[in-house]
Amino acid sequence: MSSNAIIVTGGAGFIGSNFVLEWIAAEKSPVINLDKLTYAGNLENLAGIKGDNRHRFVKGDIADRELVGALLREHQPRAVVHFAAESHVDRSIHGPGEFVQTNVVGTFELLEAVRGYWSGLADPARNDFRFLHVSTDEVYGSLGPNDPAFSETTPYAPNSPYAASKAASDHLARSYHHTYGLPVITTNCSNNYGPYQFPEKLIPLMILNAVKDKPLPVYGDGRNVRDWLYVSDHCEAVRFALKRGRPGATYNVGGNSEKTNVEVVKTVCAILDELRPDGAPHARLVAFVADRPGHDRRYAINAERIRSELGWAPRERFETGLRKTVGWYLDHMKWADNVTSGEYRNWIDLNYGTRT
Ligand code: NAD
Ligand code: TYD
Repeated sequence: MSSNAIIVTGGAGFIGSNFVLEWIAAEKSPVINLDKLTYAGNLENLAGIKGDNRHRFVKGDIADRELVGALLREHQPRAVVHFAAESHVDRSIHGPGEFVQTNVVGTFELLEAVRGYWSGLADPARNDFRFLHVSTDEVYGSLGPNDPAFSETTPYAPNSPYAASKAASDHLARSYHHTYGLPVITTNCSNNYGPYQFPEKLIPLMILNAVKDKPLPVYGDGRNVRDWLYVSDHCEAVRFALKRGRPGATYNVGGNSEKTNVEVVKTVCAILDELRPDGAPHARLVAFVADRPGHDRRYAINAERIRSELGWAPRERFETGLRKTVGWYLDHMKWADNVTSGEYRNWIDLNYGTRT
């Protein structure tokens, strides 16, 4: 008999911690949170549920099949929700090896451990079990300005080592459903933003640099387009997919919010001009820098399947979500200082040192 618990991987990272916090607030069942605590994982993200006995944190690697097997045997979960990954495109350009190790080998080891556990379950637990694989729209490659948005049938064409490693993990997850019958559901989501995002990604980097009167490095001509989704909306989509998704199906998740990078940065600056008028106009800090190699031009998501099958649609508008996010970072400058360790400063030098 499986228990009511779920195992979440990567639950100390940006999206995973938002998911765990919201799960504990909204659902009754316990969460076992397995995270390696890389530079991107921070227990401070989970301070709000410290002492709550429905949450158990385990420091460990998804590639450690024995550890994962022991956790599965001990907790008998009804689902595994897999967020853990190396997630930053620029880092994958400088050091792809970690991406192959965690995203491909790690996902493989995790799937093997889960397959071992799941095949020993008896119905109805076996039938009801879910492996929810969290992925990205970047597996589909890049769109031209007039191309239709990515749908679940768009062929995979990953362009960065990050996207390629996520595509490989999606294929492994798919094959475990097809070959072994493991009840896998995959979500492919667009760019997230919101509280607890590590300040190497566009939006938090721009907020924190602007507050500190530092340059706002925009790659290339700044006209690359991303579809932005507020992180709580993504977390809700994952909960919907877990509850109502069809095993074997994939669901694209998007925010209906296509913006160029310049639009995003200028909107951040305009919000800061209101909230921190002493630094205005913050847009004076925008600095166009050398482009990212292989930089995908445009991502856009057709989220019709998850809307019609599961009844999910994003709740937050970009303008309100961004305002909340800027406000959150201004209120959590200490969090930002704590997570941006020496290792983070080395990264900033490596990535931006030769470009600005
Ligand atoms: P993140 O980098 O903020 O967090 C990743 C977490 O995984 C960290 O807590 C890290 O410590 C942990 N981790 C890394 N390697 C591990 C390992 N080997 N074993 C256990 N834990 C490990 O990433 P995020 O932005 O929260 O993304 C979470 C997931 O969502 C990823 O799979 C990513 O591909 C996907 N995704 C992200 C976005 C986005 O915009 N951020 C969009 C779509 C999909
Ligand atoms: P990012 O947040 O790294 O997400 P992704 O590459 O996964 O979409 O970047 C979002 C966009 O912002 C992307 O087009 C690259 C661009 N960008 C900059 O222009 N400057 C920066 O300093 C960063 C980090 C990103």
